[in-house]
Amino acid sequence: MKSKYINFKKNNNFEELKAPAEAIKQGKLVLFPTETVYGIGANALNEEAVKKIYIAKGRASDNPLIAHISHMEMLEQLVEKVGKVEKTLIENFWPGPLTIIFKKKKIVPDIITGGLDTVAIRMPSNQIARKLIEYSNCPIAAPSANISGKPSGTLVEDIIEELDGKVEYIIDSGKVDIGIESTVIRVQDGVVHILRPGKITPEDIQALKIPVHIEKQILGKYKEGEKILSPGIKYKHYSPNTKCVLIYSKDNDKMVQKINELSQNKNVVVLCKTKNLEKYNISNKLNMGNSLEEISKNIFTLLRKADTYKADLILIEGVEKIGLGLAIMNRLIRACAHDYIEI
Ligand code: TXA
Ligand code: MG
Repeated sequence: MKSKYINFKKNNNFEELKAPAEAIKQGKLVLFPTETVYGIGANALNEEAVKKIYIAKGRASDNPLIAHISHMEMLEQLVEKVGKVEKTLIENFWPGPLTIIFKKKKIVPDIITGGLDTVAIRMPSNQIARKLIEYSNCPIAAPSANISGKPSGTLVEDIIEELDGKVEYIIDSGKVDIGIESTVIRVQDGVVHILRPGKITPEDIQALKIPVHIEKQILGKYKEGEKILSPGIKYKHYSPNTKCVLIYSKDNDKMVQKINELSQNKNVVVLCKTKNLEKYNISNKLNMGNSLEEISKNIFTLLRKADTYKADLILIEGVEKIGLGLAIMNRLIRACAHDYIEI
């Protein structure tokens, strides 16, 4: 059966969210927008409902989900204690694209934490997401809306084929704002460990005089058996079916030259910055934009689009790994399965 579709592109009648909220209460799944990416939501406190998310995504059961909340009372319901550093982060970045790992209370079912004693929590800033949680009157567990391993959904058109019929409702509000998933952090001994980079950058956190540690696995390869702070690191992610290679140099001309070299005698698609569009003698070029904000917003939909060309190779321009660039490079390095050339 097809999912019920709610068009929220030009709509701000929140009353229309009451039906999908009712579906959440009844243990069903709802696809909804957040400011980062679309999510597949279920009542976080209902084990059977959360199980359906894992089935819909084909997700490994040891990869935990984020519980999305609309009010601070919900945080108290779910976590043992909110430390001083966490409080500062919440004051500065919630609602918004920051997910914080806390020690969980018993009420949080093991299925959403993958059996860990911690739970990931985020208060989204997107009004549709917030109202949906409020009307559902429960925290909503939601991973990014995509089949496991594929690029996250930032546009309903990109994911409708893989998810239609698997959820009760699809709430479509057009392209999301940020385009890559939230920053995931955990505080240990006063230090913020970045487990997944995102729109809230290490620099944003350091500006609050809080020390930051960037986990090396963010840009490196996960080795079998290695200790990890976030299970998501282990899994293949963001990957188109076509082979992808990421190329970066601080020297823009060198990067362009290398991409032109690699594309010779091959059927390739290039994902490049607007300013470099004219520098390639290649017919299949996809424009990522120039700023990090534009690139972040476009990257997942372009990875999916690049795949439709059925090319031999997708060549992708990298960016400098600072600020939001760190999050973009984290996603791209993984999309390319670590096929990354830095000159
Ligand atoms: O922006 C976002 O965060 C989106 C939207 C829908 O809110 N959600 C999202 O969820 O990206 P998901 O499930 O695709 O990614 C959650 C990440 C995974 O890498 C997971 O391993 C990590 O958070 N995570 C969840 N709970 C954790 C925990 N208790 N400890 C460590 N990592 C955790
Ligand atoms: Mg995901």
